[in-house]
Amino acid sequence: MDFNLSNLLEKQISMKYVAYFVGACLGVKLGAFILRSAIKKVKILIQKRKVKKFIQKRNQDLKNLQIPATNLSQDVIDKVLNGDITQLKKMLEAKTVTSEDLVNIFSKRVQQHGIEYGVVTHLKYEEAIQAAKECDKLRKENSPLCQLPLFGIPISMKETFDEKGYPATIGSIFRLDYIPSEDGFCVKLLKSGGAIPFLRTNVPQAAMIYESVNDVYGRVLNPWDKTKYAGGSSGGEGAAVAARMSPGGMGSDIGGSIRIPAAMCGVYGFKPTAQRTIMSGHTFYSKAFNGQKTVLCASGPICKSVDDLILFFRQLSDPQYLQKFKLHERDPFFPTQQINESELSNNKKQRRFGYFKTLKSFDCTLANQRAVEIAVDKLRAQGHQLVEINLPDVDSIKNGFIQFLLSDEFEGIYDLLSKEATVKEYIMIDIFAQTPPLMKRILSVLFYMLGEKSFAELLPQTNRLRVEELNRLQYKIGQLQLDYLRLFDDHEIEAIICPSFGAPALPHSSSIDSTPVCLYTFIWNYLNFPCGVLPVTKVLKEEQHFNNSRIKELPAKRVDFYMKQNTEGLPVNVQVVAPPFKEETCLNVMKMLDDQIQFYKHNSFPELK
Ligand SMILES: *[C@@H]1O[C@H](CO)[C@@H](O)[C@H](O)[C@H]1NC(C)=O
Ligand SMILES: *[C@@H]1O[C@H](CO)[C@@H](O)[C@H](O)[C@H]1NC(C)=O
Ligand SMILES: *[C@@H]1O[C@H](CO)[C@@H](O)[C@H](O)[C@H]1NC(C)=O
Repeated sequence: MDFNLSNLLEKQISMKYVAYFVGACLGVKLGAFILRSAIKKVKILIQKRKVKKFIQKRNQDLKNLQIPATNLSQDVIDKVLNGDITQLKKMLEAKTVTSEDLVNIFSKRVQQHGIEYGVVTHLKYEEAIQAAKECDKLRKENSPLCQLPLFGIPISMKETFDEKGYPATIGSIFRLDYIPSEDGFCVKLLKSGGAIPFLRTNVPQAAMIYESVNDVYGRVLNPWDKTKYAGGSSGGEGAAVAARMSPGGMGSDIGGSIRIPAAMCGVYGFKPTAQRTIMSGHTFYSKAFNGQKTVLCASGPICKSVDDLILFFRQLSDPQYLQKFKLHERDPFFPTQQINESELSNNKKQRRFGYFKTLKSFDCTLANQRAVEIAVDKLRAQGHQLVEINLPDVDSIKNGFIQFLLSDEFEGIYDLLSKEATVKEYIMIDIFAQTPPLMKRILSVLFYMLGEKSFAELLPQTNRLRVEELNRLQYKIGQLQLDYLRLFDDHEIEAIICPSFGAPALPHSSSIDSTPVCLYTFIWNYLNFPCGVLPVTKVLKEEQHFNNSRIKELPAKRVDFYMKQNTEGLPVNVQVVAPPFKEETCLNVMKMLDDQIQFYKHNSFPELK
């Protein structure tokens, strides 16, 4: 055996240097990490202080704003607050009120309640009152412009739409200085029709969850019950309309963001096919997020009636209004389609519609099922035929949508947030996005053993997708779209009546552990079908539970727990779905239902306490 002491010593010495070197590297790395974290913490602290000052100033400005009292009678003011836009238009025509009155009345209410309910991000009073005066002048001159769908009507905009001079933060503290130097296209289009954007409304941080809360503007409270969420991401819109701070406004929807707040607040919301209303002018998120085309976002209105949804739809979709703009402004790849007036006012008898009351993948509450029953009965009473249908492949949609959402490990959204921490309502998404694939496999087995089968199945499917995997997902979506169209063909149905959401408005932060309730909205984003929601009924005393759920896993137990927390009397909406580009059919069926149900003829808007 060759035993050489000096050789060994040499080896040990050189090992020592290697150890020193490795140690030093690790030390530097650790030091850099600590330094980076510290810098990040300080940056966030500085930014939060800036946000605080910014909010104090905004609050002070809103409080100090001098809004002249109108000399209208209380009766007329009530009519303005309770009326829909269609009625406001009649009042303007009859010269009972002026646009200036409307801006003053709604602004006053925003001043009184907007901050308390977390609804307002900015009131654009000065600009709106100028525009209102302009409209009043044109009306006096009998200008033909007065015939435009939203002429002289104050409207609200979700904060995610670009408006000149106002931050579009998407609830992110590092976007305080993101202030567009001109209006986005959507705002331009609405203004060109005489609408008066006067209010910007709150959203969730990054607008990707269905509870509206962020570290800039705070939390939106549901006007029906402050302890419940108002839905999201157009939560400020839903709450503003139900609280009568705005007669109607614009939201956007990639998983239910128009329909959920509308349903939680008992008002009307409409999500068109993504290519039927233009998205240009919706604010920039991040290059990765804005570049994704798997599931498209759509913009659409939240209002107090179906008639008003139609007014917005006209202004947003009618080619005659779009054609006023240059090609690059309105996007030449955006197909323009004439509005089919005869379908919008279709009053044929004996039409056929499909319906379903609940989904096996995750049942909805009894109140939501009863809302569908009411709608179905009303249509039957009108002589229409209703057939119960089974949606194909719902589980594949359920998992596919989450897969899509996490296909980039949420990087598009983390980019938007820069270094800001997510609010706690993002915890599930953070876990999905940040757990390494192997760990997910291990956790999946554990959850399976704990009886959480759905979660166990979902978890390993939430990894970053390779391009070919994303292509496969998109191919699958295309197949599903055809399968769902076959459903319309085979049953010879024009539209589907179904639940608006899995539950009524639940307590704040409950979205963390009851997420599957939004299955009922995102199905239709995944397929890109037009759909809308309208209020039908209220939760009954005996419906305050969820033990009708066939799935007994944690999210269902949580919904049961939340349903028991005084949900009686909360509004419940129903949803109408039509095939792609059949917006007219969807709105027509919604109108038919609304004429029969007339929720706000039998119920009043919530009193703000
Ligand atoms: C309100 O005031 C305006 C001008 O100050 C006046 O012309 C109008 O008649 C008043 N209306 C009512 C209802 O008093
Ligand atoms: C418009 O709707 C009617 C049914 O109301 C339909 O017969 C007609 O084909 C539609 N027109 C177009 C261009 O789609
Ligand atoms: C369901 O919940 C309600 C309300 O808590 C309760 O009265 C009822 O007994 C429950 N039913 C079952 C089958 O558990």
